[in-house]
Amino acid sequence: MLNFALVGCGRISRKHISVLSSIEQARLVAVCDIIEQRAAAAAGPLGIPYYTDYHEMLKREKIDVVNILTPSGLHGRHVLDIVGSGVQIVVEKPMALTLEDADRMIEACDRAGVKLFVVKQNRYNLAVRELKKALDQGRFGKLVLGTVRVRWCRDQAYYDQDEWRGTWAMDGGVLTNQASHHVDLLEWCMGEVESVFARTATRLVDIEVEDTGAALLKFTSGALGIIEATTATRPRDLEGSISILGERGSVEIAGFAVNEIRTWNFDREDERDEEIRTRCSQSPPDVYGFGHKLFLEDVIRSIDSNTRGLVDGLEGRKSLELINAIYESVETGREVKLKFRPAMCRLGRGPLNQNKATS
Ligand SMILES: NC(=O)c1ccc[n+]([C@@H]2O[C@H](COP(=O)([O-])OP(=O)(O)OC[C@H]3O[C@@H](n4cnc5c(N)ncnc54)[C@H](O)[C@@H]3O)[C@@H](O)[C@H]2O)c1
Repeated sequence: MLNFALVGCGRISRKHISVLSSIEQARLVAVCDIIEQRAAAAAGPLGIPYYTDYHEMLKREKIDVVNILTPSGLHGRHVLDIVGSGVQIVVEKPMALTLEDADRMIEACDRAGVKLFVVKQNRYNLAVRELKKALDQGRFGKLVLGTVRVRWCRDQAYYDQDEWRGTWAMDGGVLTNQASHHVDLLEWCMGEVESVFARTATRLVDIEVEDTGAALLKFTSGALGIIEATTATRPRDLEGSISILGERGSVEIAGFAVNEIRTWNFDREDERDEEIRTRCSQSPPDVYGFGHKLFLEDVIRSIDSNTRGLVDGLEGRKSLELINAIYESVETGREVKLKFRPAMCRLGRGPLNQNKATS
């Protein structure tokens, strides 16, 4: 049995609370938010203590794992702040906004012998797991094209509900926030990215960052990729999807949370293919999908068996690097080759006039 605590009692905390209460080997023992009403509202129904200072919570409670559910631009600071307290750490996506923060987090956790898990719950979707298995079995042959689409609806009221949303310093745009799952899935499926060219636009809401973006990728395998992401779909969410095309097969997973197989075609039909087509059509209750439970169960398994989690710091850094490269391309108007050092990317740094090159 592992004792969990939450830092941050906002929107996503409800998912963590409901999922933790459904896992036998997990017990939520305390929560913390700097806004006392939020901490109290989360703790009240569970009859557990709440705090407004996580140092206090860590001092008083017996905690094995802390889930950091604070605004994205604070993840780095909060991980570095608690890494010395002997707990394992789960951090919501994106793990950080700058690569410097991500590197500091990875290094500090390694040095302290702490496991760092980044929430990428879509990797656990049944359809996605079948796709990854087919890729690992080589069923696609030579990869040709991988694409992801995020066509969701987030209006001005969504961005206005909290100050950090839609800012460079704390959030990033659709590519960093909503589409970071899909960017992660694309890289996980298609392999290492060699270069990216991107454009973004802010079309329907008044925010610092983009509500719409498109990126063209070249993978080191020679295959191409496309990322299409917008929160300016109206009047409601349309889809979150991925397509992988190879010389011997095509798969498309759609639904609004990458949950539903739309196409599963291979030149040689496998005995499980028909079953996969029918089983992988679950519709989750919200865009967060079903994956948080499987993700947190995997966290527990990984801690208990002292093995690496599916998405540790190094794995979580990959999509962050690509997202930074996308913004670098937007700012420079050029194709950006990975590995690179962000010089113009505004993510995690605030508006351009406050921006400083990192080198
Ligand atoms: N995996 C997913 O699908 C998914 C979905 C939604 C959000 N998220 C991620 O979760 C994070 C939080 O998002 P949200 O929508 O819940 O935001 P939110 O603003 O609703 O909640 C964040 C909470 O953190 C609290 N907080 C800030 N500083 C704190 C501190 N020092 N100590 C304790 N609490 C502090 C805030 O008061 C707030 O209540 C973001 O990084 C977001 O990208 C992930």
